Amino acid sequence: MLDPFALKNHQVWRPNQRFLPLILQHKNEKTLNFSAETTLMHIRPIGNDFVAEITNIDLRLPLTAEQIQTIDHAMDQYAVVVFPKQELDDDQEVAFARSLGPLEETRAVVDVHKQRLAYNQMNDISNLDVDGSILAADDRRRMFNLGNSLWHSDSSFKATPAKYSMLHARVIPPEGGNTEFADMRAAWDRLPAKTKAQIEPLVCDHSLIYSRAQLGFDAFNEQELLNYAPVPQRLVRKHPGSGRKSVYLASHIGLVHGMPRPEGMILIRDLIEEATRREFVYSHVWSQFDLVMWDNRCTMHRARPYDDKIYKRDMRRMTLTDSAPTLEQPL
Ligand code: OGA
Ligand code: MN
Repeated sequence: MLDPFALKNHQVWRPNQRFLPLILQHKNEKTLNFSAETTLMHIRPIGNDFVAEITNIDLRLPLTAEQIQTIDHAMDQYAVVVFPKQELDDDQEVAFARSLGPLEETRAVVDVHKQRLAYNQMNDISNLDVDGSILAADDRRRMFNLGNSLWHSDSSFKATPAKYSMLHARVIPPEGGNTEFADMRAAWDRLPAKTKAQIEPLVCDHSLIYSRAQLGFDAFNEQELLNYAPVPQRLVRKHPGSGRKSVYLASHIGLVHGMPRPEGMILIRDLIEEATRREFVYSHVWSQFDLVMWDNRCTMHRARPYDDKIYKRDMRRMTLTDSAPTLEQPL
């Protein structure tokens, strides 16, 4: 297999390197030309230094090993990647996600029996009922879904959390409904040495119940309470692809091990506040058929409001599962 990253010395990607040298040379854009038969993918940074746009690739078609490797390298380097104008249907979105790695097999929802989408692995990030109509204001699913507006990392409340998420825009509202992203590697890098030393060994409990409690939502039934029992995760982790450390934060955190609850929660609040300062946030303004992919191991994101009682927003998310619980991963 042709390895483009081994072609020239100056193109070899190294952990901890802030930019791929392959990129940024010619008008902020460079074609990665691996072999005659593969598509020429274009990668260029947009907005913040942790977000890139990839064009000149058709995600409806099976990806070559080189294309998958390039996407993984771009994800290691950046952490959020935008693929504009990908007109995928459900089968194609599932096939694309599958080609990148093992999928999360379960959705984290309330009212599991009320499903609009056919694939169990596809998360319905919409304001729509099973029949396609807009959810009522007091629908449990709407109230639960509003939790996406809190800064979080997908599935940090699962024993083995999420790796990449891929969110595809099918229908977007005329205004609002941006998705914001923050880089938790940069957040770690910015912390004072003393704070780094203090938080590095810490372990937190994560649960959907904790994030929803912040919004006053506690209408879980017994089965849901069992499903969403807290799980422990490291507060600091190391990214296997880049070697960079990051703070593993989410509004799902409800307890820091070894600390009285309020003490731990103030620490987490301060860390989230610092990590998501305006100047470090990328706000994605959606166009129809954008597919945005982010690495949950080293970023947080949140939904922004839109008039969800009037306009439809239909987004569908595929999620790759991480390799193991964070405590079983080396730091
Ligand atoms: C998600 C999510 C935010 C949004 O899909 O995991 O948090 O803007 N989405 O819909
Ligand atoms: Mn999310």
